[in-house]
Amino acid sequence: MIQNIGFGLGLRPDHYEAILADRPRVDFFEALTENYLVPGGKALHYLDRIRQEYALVLHGVSLSIGSTAPIDRDYLKALKTLMHRVEPAWVSDHLCWTGTDGVNLHDLMPLPYTREALRHLVPRIREVQDTLGQRILLENVSSYVAYQSSEMSEWEFLAQLSREADCLLLLDVNNVYVNSVNHQFEPDEFIRGIPVDRVAQIHLAGHERQESFIIDTHDAPIVEEVWALYRRTREHLGSVSTMIERDAHIPPLEELLAELDIARGQAAAKAAA
Ligand SMILES: [Fe+2]
Repeated sequence: MIQNIGFGLGLRPDHYEAILADRPRVDFFEALTENYLVPGGKALHYLDRIRQEYALVLHGVSLSIGSTAPIDRDYLKALKTLMHRVEPAWVSDHLCWTGTDGVNLHDLMPLPYTREALRHLVPRIREVQDTLGQRILLENVSSYVAYQSSEMSEWEFLAQLSREADCLLLLDVNNVYVNSVNHQFEPDEFIRGIPVDRVAQIHLAGHERQESFIIDTHDAPIVEEVWALYRRTREHLGSVSTMIERDAHIPPLEELLAELDIARGQAAAKAAA
């Protein structure tokens, strides 16, 4: 059973003090795993204090589940220690690869949507889930290139993967929209292809529109096309925990709270429609 924990925001250091001082109306915070893996220090101190007041989920960028390099056992060990400390509602990372042979590209690279890639990913996801003792969420990434070798659509790949590996999905609605423009597919077909029982969380974010493609910048308010797709996603999935990501040009907390209220309104509008 996947719990709905409501409407959340990304936890950003710029907002630590305001969160503790104002106790804003946020149902949960999503903390970036890698910021809290080193014991001690200011970041972990704030995380502990915020955790006392709020539900928390952990979101990582280093798992590199698609890589051909072995799963980083030290990273999993540190993650498990953090999980014991803050008891997140769940842990997520990205369906991507970030490097191999000791090289970190510092980017979330897409995978080819092939049966071979599925055979590669399934035991790796199971290894991670067995080590952590729970299912993880994997997020669909935005991309600017596609592989000629792909044998199925991104959504068919996500559906098969989540069933075969018994993992959950973090559906980033902005990334679906970005990819639909960059790779020219119908975003609603993507949404309809996602198995309802696998999605535990939704991401919303802003992006930068170029003439014929979109750069996924997470530095701007959510655009109307993404809100509209979010409403249609809720019609397909029902009520799912939703969170707004802002990674650059971080505005004052009030601005993000106002955007989160829009998300609440969009979800209610769907229910009333
Ligand atoms: Fe995301």
